[in-house]
Amino acid sequence: MGTVRYKASKSDAVTEREKRNQQIAYEAAAESIVLLENDGTLPLTPCKVALYGGGAAMTVKGGTGSGEVNERHSTGIEEGLENAGFTVTTGNWLEDWRRRYEAGKAAHGKGVMKKMLSLDSAALINIMANPYRLPAGRKITVQDVKSSDTDTCIYVVSRQAGECADRELEKLDYQLTDMEKENIRRAVKAYKKVILVINVGCSMDLSILEEVPGINAVLYYCQQGMEGGNAFADILTGKVNPSGALSDTWACQYEDLPYAMEYAQMDGNPLEADYKEGIYVGYRYFQTFGVKTRYPFGYGKSYTTFDLAYQKAAMSGNQGTIEIEVTNTGACAGKKIVQIYAHCPQKGLKKEARRLIGFAKTSLLNPGEKETVKVAFEAHALSSYDEIKSVYVLEAGDYVLAYGENAEDVTACVKLKLDELVCLEQCESICPPERKIGELAEKAPVQESNLEELPVILWKSAEIETCTYDYSELEESTTETVENWLDSLTTEEMIELLSGTGMMGGNPYLMVPGAAAYTKAYPEKGICSTALCDGPAGLRLQRVSALTGKGRIKPMEMMMDFMNQFPGFVKKLMTGNSKKDTLLYQNATAFPVGTALAQTWNQELLEKVGNAAGEEMEEYGVTFWLAPGMNIHRNPLCGRNYEYYSEDPLLSGKCAAAISRGVQSHPGCYVTIKHYAANNQETQRNLMSSNMDERTLREIYLEGFRIAVREGGAKAVMTSYNRLNHVYTPNSYDLCTKVLRQEWGFDGVVMTDWMSTEKGLADRVQAYISGNDLLMPGGSGCVKEVKRAYREGKLNEDVIRQCCTRLLVLVEESNPQKEFFPDSVSR
Ligand code: BGC
Repeated sequence: MGTVRYKASKSDAVTEREKRNQQIAYEAAAESIVLLENDGTLPLTPCKVALYGGGAAMTVKGGTGSGEVNERHSTGIEEGLENAGFTVTTGNWLEDWRRRYEAGKAAHGKGVMKKMLSLDSAALINIMANPYRLPAGRKITVQDVKSSDTDTCIYVVSRQAGECADRELEKLDYQLTDMEKENIRRAVKAYKKVILVINVGCSMDLSILEEVPGINAVLYYCQQGMEGGNAFADILTGKVNPSGALSDTWACQYEDLPYAMEYAQMDGNPLEADYKEGIYVGYRYFQTFGVKTRYPFGYGKSYTTFDLAYQKAAMSGNQGTIEIEVTNTGACAGKKIVQIYAHCPQKGLKKEARRLIGFAKTSLLNPGEKETVKVAFEAHALSSYDEIKSVYVLEAGDYVLAYGENAEDVTACVKLKLDELVCLEQCESICPPERKIGELAEKAPVQESNLEELPVILWKSAEIETCTYDYSELEESTTETVENWLDSLTTEEMIELLSGTGMMGGNPYLMVPGAAAYTKAYPEKGICSTALCDGPAGLRLQRVSALTGKGRIKPMEMMMDFMNQFPGFVKKLMTGNSKKDTLLYQNATAFPVGTALAQTWNQELLEKVGNAAGEEMEEYGVTFWLAPGMNIHRNPLCGRNYEYYSEDPLLSGKCAAAISRGVQSHPGCYVTIKHYAANNQETQRNLMSSNMDERTLREIYLEGFRIAVREGGAKAVMTSYNRLNHVYTPNSYDLCTKVLRQEWGFDGVVMTDWMSTEKGLADRVQAYISGNDLLMPGGSGCVKEVKRAYREGKLNEDVIRQCCTRLLVLVEESNPQKEFFPDSVSR
């Protein structure tokens, strides 16, 4: 029996670290819940409350699949309310709901098992595509109302989604069911105060607000992790004043989105997604084309009021700042988000009516208190990509800056007058589409920006620093240790290092139960393994595991929810024996999901979240966190939107950069920004192609990643499953080398998404040649194929050594390496 190394604890006692991080999860939840409507009903004094709806008893804390987190305990809405002093008086209705939930779940489980037993490979690969949809519950009866003995009702609508499947434009998903509508109607009739809570990972249809007038308040709970229920209750009572704002536009109806009915399978061809709307994604579309929204991007109410006043702005070369004074003019303390939008000259390239170029959040301001926030922005944020000349340009003319309550409600305050056109960054053309795409660009109306009375700042083109990217060379950093390691490894061993150790984990030097994979260890050469764990709402680890007498580590609980559907005997075989084995614990924090984090618009807070995750990585020996997820919310039906931040690349990028800074403030811990790029559809995600013009790709779908690399220093990138303009992303030299490394200066590791290089998908050898360093989760089949390609001369030693260097530089810094092989590291 070999030695089993692990850092999981033998004690399940709550630690100080857990308490600290739980508090951060609470703060993030409290700042991200968005108050959508309020007629003065909120805040409430704790009272008796009639609680109904799918997520009342079992609030959805996050999505399914790799984005799940196995925390010690999660507080949902019912429990949170009770904790805050409310008395939930609809026990009968909730009890009945729980019974329906259990029965529905058992039936659902049988269906999932049937699919599994069919051994149909498509069904197996997509087994996670069947999240159990929470039932809406039974009709609210006169008796329910009577026995609830209150005038206050909270109705919670919940939806579940996750990887492998998109949401659907149907009842019990994007739409409310008839039963939900009927119950909300009944609630409005029966109760004086009705609060509707939306516990869904992305936007949904809210036409109920017109259909059933009289709902007093609406809160977008999103999915808030383990502390959501407590944060929610504190918002309800006013202990916390809501300060979250939407990171997406909410359409009046789904069909209002551009090319809405062509999304995924809706046009009958999920394999080809033509991004005809081009750069007009989210508010860029709604604001440019004057389409009414239900709630605009950046929208969120407060219990207090604020006054915003422009103070001054400065533009010097490539850097700008704008200062806005915020005064709390209401009666209670609160925080305010300041959003800065730019309206760029409409000459030459067609442009959106406005784009977000920066934002900041005030501290907690007491009534009457003022704070001046300074928002910094870069010339790049004002540029547009001219794909004919392959250059980011700043066109001459007026750049009107505005501060905004949200993307719809903005106040223009200053003009930057640029004297001449500037070619800001000269690039080379990348990822050419097979055909012309981007119909809307031609139709974009020209927006006027001649606001004569605004103060003007002369922005001198001569002072702007420009650059031309050099694509001829790649700067690689290495160290003495890495060079020594490489000299000690045979080429075949290097090849083994460049694939993960497989789905079953291989034989890592340090076990991290629940890791999604490991890199290989060469103990005899002093090289440790590293563990890669999901993301993004916290570390996805096995909470309880068992160390068996034979020196194996087995789970004690199912790692992902869908596994609970396995037959009893399978589960028994998989799990350890609590009577005989030594139990090991890893208590990770379930933070709010990505979308919720973005709704805080609070970069310092996100850095704290990242720092907290980094602390847990150190504790359990995790080197790569497979997070943050940062694909753009192109359509609300994408099944993984909840894992991602926003429809806006700047907000997404700033969030990912903040998380990266937090995580990587722990030396040897790395984020893995994913999924690079344009992974905006789950249906047929391994086969479909996202097709778009280069400008759209650069300005919308790559921009967030650029910010995460440049401002956050992200050290690892995960390529995506999809094809981009018909090329699998790991096979794209343009993406993995030209843009990422040669333009943005990324010097870390690029890895594939799990099993994205199986037969018929991305090519393994081409992945390395293109700049992808690690094939994940790897395994012997993978290694064998690459070795054969090497022997046949299809892969040369330089490429192998280059990929290995990049990986080993990070391995050398990793904590397990330093702990277990201190003598072999040079720094
Ligand atoms: C997901 C990734 C995840 C990986 C490892 C894949 O199915 O797309 O986001 O990190 O699995 O669990």
